[in-house]
Amino acid sequence: CGIVGALVSSGSVTPGLIAGLSVLEYRGYDSAGIAVARGGEITVRKRRGRLANLEEAILDGSMEGALAGIGHTRWATHGEPSDANAHPHTGRSSGLALVHNGIVENYLDLKRELLNEGEAFTSETDTEVLARMLDRLWTQGGGDEAALVAAVRTAIPRVRGYYALAVLANCPTGPVLLAVRQGPPLVVGVTPEGGFLSSDMLGVAPHTRELVYLEDGDIALIGPGRLDITGSDGSVVTREARTVQWDPADSGKGGYPHYMLKEIHEQPDVIARTAFDRIDLGAGDVRFEGGGFDDAFCRSVERIQILGCGTALHAGQIAKYLIEGLAHIPVDVDFASEFRYRDPRIVPGTLALAITQSGETADTLAATRLARELGARVASICNVAGSSQVRESDATILTYAGPEIGVASTKAFTAQVAAATLLAIRLARGRGVMHEHKARQLLEEFRMIRPKIESLLTDEAIARTREIARKHAGARGFLFLGRGVNYPVALEGALKLKEIAYVHAEGYAAGEMKHGPIALIDPGMTILAINSVGHVAEKTRANIEQVKARGGVTVSVGSDDLSHSIADSAVPVPATDEWLSPILNSIPLQLIAYHIAEIHGCDIDKPRNLAKSVTVE
Ligand code: G6P
Repeated sequence: CGIVGALVSSGSVTPGLIAGLSVLEYRGYDSAGIAVARGGEITVRKRRGRLANLEEAILDGSMEGALAGIGHTRWATHGEPSDANAHPHTGRSSGLALVHNGIVENYLDLKRELLNEGEAFTSETDTEVLARMLDRLWTQGGGDEAALVAAVRTAIPRVRGYYALAVLANCPTGPVLLAVRQGPPLVVGVTPEGGFLSSDMLGVAPHTRELVYLEDGDIALIGPGRLDITGSDGSVVTREARTVQWDPADSGKGGYPHYMLKEIHEQPDVIARTAFDRIDLGAGDVRFEGGGFDDAFCRSVERIQILGCGTALHAGQIAKYLIEGLAHIPVDVDFASEFRYRDPRIVPGTLALAITQSGETADTLAATRLARELGARVASICNVAGSSQVRESDATILTYAGPEIGVASTKAFTAQVAAATLLAIRLARGRGVMHEHKARQLLEEFRMIRPKIESLLTDEAIARTREIARKHAGARGFLFLGRGVNYPVALEGALKLKEIAYVHAEGYAAGEMKHGPIALIDPGMTILAINSVGHVAEKTRANIEQVKARGGVTVSVGSDDLSHSIADSAVPVPATDEWLSPILNSIPLQLIAYHIAEIHGCDIDKPRNLAKSVTVE
C-alpha cells in the first residue's frame, strides 16, 4: 500500500496528496482515499478501484482548502476491495482518521473487545480496529495533541503485527499529523512551509530532497518546520536526514506509453551506472564503494545463502551460477518465504545475501533476520539506499536502477544481475581463485555491453519482438527453456508473461523438459528457448530439435545462430561472454511479454492483483 500525508502552513494539501498518490499507485491500486482536516472537521472520500475514481469523487471541490490531510492507495489484505474497506478509516468522534500499511495480526481479538465496549464497525478491515481504538483513547484523554501521542503509546503494546500508520487528528490547536512505524517504511520531509510523509521517498522528494527514514518504534509529529520523534517509551529520538538524488523526470513516463517500456529502455544507462565505475580494468578486479567485500571478507565466506522473492529470486538463481562458477563458493538459493518457515541450517562462515529491489519486502527481511539469528553475516543487493534491508546489512551493493514504477520488474532485475556478476568476480579475485588476466578479459567484455544492450532496443529490434508477440499471442501456453546461467532467465521470461499478460507460462531447465513438460508439446504451445554461445549451447540446441520433432512451435532467443536456424522464429542477441549473456537475453523476453500484454489489452504497469512492494507476509 502507499501512504501520503501533509500538513502545510498555507494553500491546500489536496492536490499534493493526489499527486503523491498517483506516484505511489504502483504500490497498490485496488482502492484509494484521502482525509482532510478543515474548519474543525475531518472529511473523508474513498473509492474502490483506481485513483481516477477518487479524483472524480472530489471534483466537487469538497476537499479543497484544507491545510492537513492523509491519503492511501490500497493492496487488500483484510477485506475485499470496496469503498467501505478503502482507507482512511475513522473513529466514532469523526475528529480522527488514519491510513495504514501492513497487518494487525490480533485484530479479531481487539475488534471483539471494542464491540463489547459498544463500538460499531463499517468495514471488514484490520485498519478500522486501529482507528476506533485510537479514537477512543484520544477522546478519553482530552482530544488534544498530547492525548493523541499518549493514545498511540497506549495502543502500540496491544497491537501485534507489522504496520506503518499516518494519523490525522483535529485538535483544539489545529490539525495534527502523526506517523508511527512498526515495520513497513515511512519517510518524512520537513520544510518551513510544510511537513510531508510517505511510505516511499517518491512521495516526499517533490517537496524536499532532505529525507528522514523513520525506524521501528518511532512516533513522529510532523508539520511546517517540525519533526518531533519519540520512542514508544516517550524518549526523544534523533534521526539523521539524508539527501536523496531525485530527478522529477524519474516519476514520469518520459514519452513512453508505459513505465515498463520506459524502464526497459533505461537499461543501457542502468547497467552502465551499476557496473562500470566499479570495474578496475588495470587490476582486473572490482572495487565496491567504501572498500566493501575486501580480500579478508571474501576469504572468510565459506557458504552463501541467497534469499529473495519473485524476480529478485531469479537474479539470485543467476548469482548462484556466477558465484559457484567463478568464485567456487557453495551457494544455496531459497524463496525467502520458504526459508523463514522451515528449519534452515546455517553453517559457520555463511553469508546471507538478500536480493531485493525495494529493500522492504517483508519475507526477505524476515528471512535475513532469521539467517542472522542463526549466525550468518548479512549482505544485500538492493536498489534503495535508505531501505530497511540496507540498514540491516553488514555490506550492501547498491544497484543504480533509479525508481522502478512498473510493477513487473525489468531494469531492477538486470541491475541485480549486473551487481551479482561484479560480486562473483570480486569474491573470485579476493579468494585468489580467478587469475587477473581472466578477470580482466571478462570485465573488458562487461565494459562493452552497453552498445549491445542498445542494439536490442532499436526500433528494428523492438519491431522484431512485436512480430514474435503478434505471431504467438494466441498460444494456449508458453514454455521457456534455458540451461546453466540462462535457466533462471527462462524462469524470469515466463514470470514476466504471467504477470503482465495473464498467460500461462512456465520456465523450465531445458534438460528437464524430457522428464515431464515434453508431454505438453503440441502446435498450440509456444516454446521459447534461450540459448547463447557457450558450454551448454549444443545441449539446448538438441532440446529445440526434440520440441520440433514433436510438432512444437519454437522461438530461439540468444546468440546461438545454429539454434536460430533450427527454430521457427528467432530473436538474435549479440554475442558476449556466457557469464554476461543473462543481461542481454532478458531484454527481448521483457519486450515479448510487454507486446503480448499490449495485444491482450492488459494494464501493463498495474497488473491485476499484484503490488510492487509487498511489505506484508
Ligand atoms: C513483488 C513484486 C515483484 C518483485 C517482488 C520482490 O512481488 O510484484 O515484481 O520481484 O515483490 O520485490 P523486491 O522489492 O524485494 O525485489
